[in-house]
Parts: sequence; C-alpha cells; structure tokens
Amino acid sequence: MNEIPIGPRSIIPFRFLRRMQRDPLPFLTGLARDYGDIVQFKIGPQVLVLINHPDLVRELLVTQHRSFHKSRVLQRSKIILGEGLLTSEDELHKRQRRLAQPAFHRDRITLYADEMVQRAARTRERWRDGATLDIHHEMMKLTLSVVAKTLFDAEVEGEEDDIGSALTSLIDLFPLLMNPYSVYFRKIPIPSTLRFKKAITRLDRTIYGIINERRASGEDRGDLLSMLLLAQDDEGDGGGMSDKQVRDEAMTLFLAGHETTANALAWTWYLLAQHPDVAREVQRTIDEVLGDALPTAADYPRLQYLEMVLAESMRLFPPAWAVSRLAMDDVDLGGWHIPRDAVAVASQFLMHRDPRFWQEPERFEPSRFTSEAKLARPKFAYFPFGAGPRICIGEGFAWMEGVLLLATLAQRWSMELISRDVEPKASITLRPRGGIKVRLHANSRG
Ligand code: HEM
Repeated sequence: MNEIPIGPRSIIPFRFLRRMQRDPLPFLTGLARDYGDIVQFKIGPQVLVLINHPDLVRELLVTQHRSFHKSRVLQRSKIILGEGLLTSEDELHKRQRRLAQPAFHRDRITLYADEMVQRAARTRERWRDGATLDIHHEMMKLTLSVVAKTLFDAEVEGEEDDIGSALTSLIDLFPLLMNPYSVYFRKIPIPSTLRFKKAITRLDRTIYGIINERRASGEDRGDLLSMLLLAQDDEGDGGGMSDKQVRDEAMTLFLAGHETTANALAWTWYLLAQHPDVAREVQRTIDEVLGDALPTAADYPRLQYLEMVLAESMRLFPPAWAVSRLAMDDVDLGGWHIPRDAVAVASQFLMHRDPRFWQEPERFEPSRFTSEAKLARPKFAYFPFGAGPRICIGEGFAWMEGVLLLATLAQRWSMELISRDVEPKASITLRPRGGIKVRLHANSRG
C-alpha cells in the first residue's frame, strides 16, 4: 500500500479550519491542483484525505463503503436531524431505508407530479413582466411548498417565511458544525445558539402537530408522511416507526429535499440567462412537447433536453458539493493507505470540473449529457446524488421536480440576469452568495 502524500502544513493552529469554514472551495481546488488524485492534511488533530479520482470515489462510496461511516460533521448534525436516513448507520440505516423506500418508488413519485406543477403554476401567475426578483429566494419558497405538500400534505403558503427562516437558521449554523468543539459552543446561550434552539422548537411543533393529527385520524393521504407512518418492516421485526423516528425522517426529508433542488433550479436560471442558445432550445422543446398545456408526469420522458440542462447545471454547481466519510478501520483504498479515524472527502465540485474528464470544463454545454456522451467518460466523474448504499433516496423525486418546475416556469417566463459577479458559497449546500437577481420577461406564449 502507498502512503498518501502529505499536503500543506501550518504552524498557525486551526488555520486550515478557518479557511475551510470561510470558503472551502478555493482551498480544496488548490490542493487538488497541487497534489492530484489524493492528498492528506490536518485540521487540528483531525486527519483529512482529499480523494480526487473517479476510481477512488467508487472505492469510497461503493466497493469499500462498509469500512466507512458518515463523517463527524454529519454526526454533529444529529442535533437537528436526529437518527434520520442521512445520519443513521449500519442496521438502523438499513431498516429506515427499507421502510422509507416505497415512498420514493417511481409510481409514487408520479403521483406527486401534479402537485409540483400546480405549485409552479401558482408561482408563475404571481410573477409580473419586468419585475426584478431574487430567483434563489423564489425557488426556495417553491420547493419548500412542494416538499410540504407532498411530504406532509400541508399547505405552507403564508407560513413559508416562518418555516423558511427556521430552516435557514439551522442551515446557517452549518459552518459551526465543522468545528470539533461545536458540542461545547452549542451549550453557551449566545444569540446564534438561541436562534438555533428556537428554530428547532418551531419546526418540531409543526412536525409533531402533523404526526399527532395523522396518527389520530389513521388516514392514508397518499403522501410521504403517510408512507412513513404506515410503513411496516416486513423483513425486520415487523414494527413500524416510532413518532421520534418519523419526526427525524420528516426533518431530514424537509431539509434534504428542499434546499438542494432549490439551488439546482436557481443555478439553472442563472446559466440559462447567460446562454441564449440553450434557452432557445429549452423553448423549442417546450413548444414541441407541451405547447400551451401544463406539463404532466407523462410528458417528463419527452422533456429530456430539460433534464440534460439540469444535469449540466448540477455539474457546474452541484448542490451537494462534497461527501465525506470517517474510516472505521485502516483501509486500502485503491492501493492507498487510509488510516483509521481519518476523514475521506470527495468533492463533486472538483470532480465535475476536472479537465481530465471534461473538455473545457468551465463551459456550459448540456450535450455532455446525451446517452452516448455519458458512456464515454468514467461513471464516477459525475456524482451529484452520491453513490452506493447511501445514494440520495430522493434522486428520482428531484429529477421529476426539477424538470417539471423548470418546464412550467420557462413556458411563461425568461430571465435576464441583473446580479453581477454571482459566486457559489459552499455551506451545507452550494448556494449563490447574496442570491441571484433577475428581471422577468414574459414569453410570447404567455
Ligand atoms: C438536486 C437535488 C438533490 C441533490 C443534489 C441531492 C444530493 C444528495 C447526496 C449527494 C446525498 C448523499 C450524501 C452522502 O453520501 O453523504 C443525498 C442523500 C440523501 N438525500 Fe438527496 N439530494 C437532492 C434531493 C433530495 C430530495 C428531493 C430528497 C427527499 C425528498 C432527498 C433526500 C435525501 C436523503 C434522505 C438522503 C440520505 C440517504 C441515505 O443515506 O440513505 N434529496 N442527497
């Protein structure tokens, strides 16, 4: 086994932690540029290994997944998410995944399509020609209402800002979770930790309220929450989920299911506004497939060009910009020795822009996602939804939602970019720093 090259060292304590907290992307990009496929460095006492080759991504997430757990950053987020799918491990994870899986079955997702389109239709009715707005904020509101409706069968209209700001308070705390001492910070009653506690209480109130009401009525409303409440573990002990488990899953799905898709859509509008040729092809596809009619689940396979646009947008701006894993043992990862307790990090942001696998990586070019083009490059050069047993359970949901929301809104509206110097900010997801301001233009169809 080869020893991993040792990357930069610093005599200033926690210098790398500060750089990672402030903006991890330039730091990690520099490491990949200087060291190539793999490098190790330290943040305080923690050894981190940055892996940067598709073969090593496969080893980490698929072949050798048993030797790894989710990293401590994610473990620390249990304070928010509890033992939900994203954070649980081993047998508990397997059981929860088996119980939740039917809610993400293709047939089930198809049933959500109408709700997705209806919500986008309401948004496009609200918009006015020539108005300027922050498209990131708009997409967050829209995907929050989609998740609330499909997951809880709940209307959040009017409450979006309250729930949205509670979720934002939780997400804003993310950089703190990178800090190994965050366990202690959380106990100090400073404004940010108080805001954080208030936000959890706010969301718990909503979630437990809905769970209690639904348990009492025993009704199957056909949404994700019903699926979770009614799930019976046939292969396991036959028991369903406790209220606490359902709460943890609901909180996880709420957070994981709205922020990511909102970012993917916001970045897509940003790119379309700058690439009129691609925007025209989107319009041509909509004309051909939909004309003036609202899209349905049945149209989804024929809107393949829109899916390619989203895929290319998630290449350049992957909403999940990195995955990390804690080595439970000494591991031989493709011939490299990963020591026990090291954290291995693989970054979609880096891999998706690596010139070894992408020609002119900075260029926005949806034709990279034709079936032929996909086969011509290593599979794990693109992994926006992760891979292996912990692959995103919402992937099918996200593709359907992304394509249908984009189709419904683009049918009526085009966007002109007003913001200058839009930059990605790597928080828990890859958000546009400061939002994306656009001016709306009604299409001739509208
Ligand atoms: C564009 C949208 C989305 C992206 C880019 C995305 C990305 C990801 C990634 C990369 C992972 C794996 C993390 C890891 O391996 O450490 C993941 C896991 C997960 N995602 Fe998504 N996601 C998206 C949408 C959704 C939606 C819509 C839902 C639910 C409605 C969802 C729910 C989850 C859950 C529950 C997990 C944990 C799965 C497990 O560990 O078994 N995601 N997602």
